[in-house]
Amino acid sequence: MTVAAYAKVNFTLEVLGVRPDGYHDLRSVVVPISLADEVTLEPADEVTLNLKTLNTLKAEDNLAVRAARLMQRVSGRNEGVEITLEKRIPVGGGLGGGSADAAAVLNGLNEMWGLGIPKPELAGLGAEIGSDVPALVLGGPVLMEGRGEQVTECLVPSAVVHGAELKRKDRRVSSSPSTKHQAPSTFHLVLANPGVFCSTAEIFKAFASLLPNRPEILYNIRLAMQAGDDAAVARALQNDLEATATRLHPEIGAARRRLEEAGCLGVSMSGSGATVFGIVRDASEAECIARKLSEDGLWAVAVETVR
Ligand code: C5P
Repeated sequence: MTVAAYAKVNFTLEVLGVRPDGYHDLRSVVVPISLADEVTLEPADEVTLNLKTLNTLKAEDNLAVRAARLMQRVSGRNEGVEITLEKRIPVGGGLGGGSADAAAVLNGLNEMWGLGIPKPELAGLGAEIGSDVPALVLGGPVLMEGRGEQVTECLVPSAVVHGAELKRKDRRVSSSPSTKHQAPSTFHLVLANPGVFCSTAEIFKAFASLLPNRPEILYNIRLAMQAGDDAAVARALQNDLEATATRLHPEIGAARRRLEEAGCLGVSMSGSGATVFGIVRDASEAECIARKLSEDGLWAVAVETVR
């Protein structure tokens, strides 16, 4: 079987504190986008990996391989899988490329081996592979909390949005599947990567500017997404790691300015960088800006959010 492993951007990323285990507590709205690796899974005796692009990682370090080994362990099965990765998502770009591959393998093997593990449980298993994996296993816009292991569907049911229950706590993913959800709107984005490698560990280590709790950040982005209001989404973007990443890699600031000058409604960095993204009104504007930036030598692509 061949599946698309969608990359993500973080519409918001708040760092809430440092945990006793050294990780940081986060609150982030993670949104999958149409840029994807292609992951092919074929029955085999052992877990093997074919990478279609030059990559210095050993197979054992590859998150897709680790995901397959996790599924072998969880299911108690002896059979393997031949994984072929056609990489399109830049590595070390804050777009969750490695995590997307791992999430695709978890979902793919769950289906291929007929395991029937419910998605919330599969998402929980994915946390041991990487902090972004649970969000990408679940798919769609997700509220990510803890170090990444707590994932909740991001948009509250439409009845709640418009009704008197506006302040009701979010539905957890494990609750009743019968609740009706409003289909999330599609937003158009331009991604720009300045070609520097941002190590997530390096950025978190250098991060030292904890801010007070700002509940309005999550409130505003949710409201904007629910309304399908791209200008409001653009205003609500926030990434607490951006200042630190830009201090270490000034090229990120330069890429941000290119997107701003090109007319994006709002710009932010994704994850721990180095990719920055701008919100635009429609697909043709996204294509036009991406083409212009590419001509100037920046890696840039037009994408849209995926439900
Ligand atoms: O979990 P993942 O492998 O993606 O994280 C990479 C590194 O980023 C961790 O080793 C840790 O240093 C840092 N990190 C963190 N807090 C998080 C997620 C990651 O400090 N919530």
